[in-house]
Amino acid sequence: MRIGLFGFTLGIGFALVAGAVAASAGDFKYVGVSKCRTCHKKELIGNQYDAWQNGVHAKAYETLKSDAAQKIAAEKGISGPAQEAAECLSCHVTAYGKDASAFASAPIENEEGVSCESCHGPGSDYRKKKVMADHAASVAAGMWEPGKNAEVCTACHNAESPTFKPFDHAARVKEIAHPIPAEVKGRYIEAEKEARAKKK
Ligand code: HEC
Ligand code: HEC
Ligand code: HEC
Ligand code: HEC
Repeated sequence: MRIGLFGFTLGIGFALVAGAVAASAGDFKYVGVSKCRTCHKKELIGNQYDAWQNGVHAKAYETLKSDAAQKIAAEKGISGPAQEAAECLSCHVTAYGKDASAFASAPIENEEGVSCESCHGPGSDYRKKKVMADHAASVAAGMWEPGKNAEVCTACHNAESPTFKPFDHAARVKEIAHPIPAEVKGRYIEAEKEARAKKK
């Protein structure tokens, strides 16, 4: 009797754990920066696309082609080019090494470097305009909060990096700021309608 009950409880336990893992890992898929660009290159919303494009993260893959990178790789005993080594790509591109099922269509190209979804999470479900306009709904649809959660950054900014610099989360977040302008923050859809009406 006792063993039977224990087995039953254990069974439920496993089912719950398996369900939680599936929900966190499987459901939200990476879509790539071109999908975010559609809306986030607009001046009215703050053009986060250009801020990223002109910043360090967009160049993270390019950096691996530099002489400095080849030298670091050689010192670590890596025989091939740094830009082809898993030991380097893991932090210099987006969603490196993930199974094909993690992507909505094709895997993200290395050339994208460290793009939006490295910090904001896989965007298949939160990228819809109505979801995006609602913070809680976005988080429920898989959006991460990299301003609150330093682990998003320290997944790469850690001592495994051959050039590691101590990471002060609050200070580094400021260095890469790409805010939504205060006058449209939280009311963008409305602000867009107003802007359209003015044009007419
Ligand atoms: C269809 C248009 C659209 C697309 C596509 C889109 N966004 Fe957004 N995004 C918005 C709008 C609208 C807001 C809300 C602006 C407001 O009212 O404050 C927003 C807000 C955000 C915010 C702030 C959310 C918050 O609550 O703090 C982040 C972060 C963000 N988007 C990232 C992304 C990323 C990453 C992608 C690509 C995976 C993406 N967006 C794709 C329209 C879009
Ligand atoms: C997927 C890995 C990855 C994630 C996640 C990541 N970064 Fe980076 N970050 C890099 C790489 C790689 C570079 C170096 C890029 C280069 O020089 O080409 C870098 C460079 C920087 C720099 C430039 C200064 C420096 O240290 O050289 C700042 C600032 C920075 N990151 C802040 C952040 C913040 C803040 C977060 C979290 C919100 C974050 N990063 C998340 C990989 C990452
Ligand atoms: C290296 C990490 C990193 C990358 C790459 C990145 N972001 Fe962000 N993003 C952040 C952080 C950190 C914040 C600040 C969040 C906060 O204050 O809580 C932020 C904030 C935002 C916001 C909200 C600003 C606001 O005022 O609320 C939007 C919109 C956004 N990012 C869109 C994008 C888009 C689109 C891309 C790609 C083109 C992108 N981000 C790339 C880390 C990143
Ligand atoms: C654990 C994540 C991680 C791994 C693995 C990694 N990098 Fe980086 N890399 C970073 C981050 C983060 C930065 C930004 C500087 C730092 O480390 O704080 C960076 C910066 C760089 C830079 C720019 C120089 C500088 O001082 O900013 C070069 C070059 C570089 N990495 C080469 C490599 C090579 C070559 C490999 C493989 C042998 C590698 N990285 C592996 C995370 C990583």
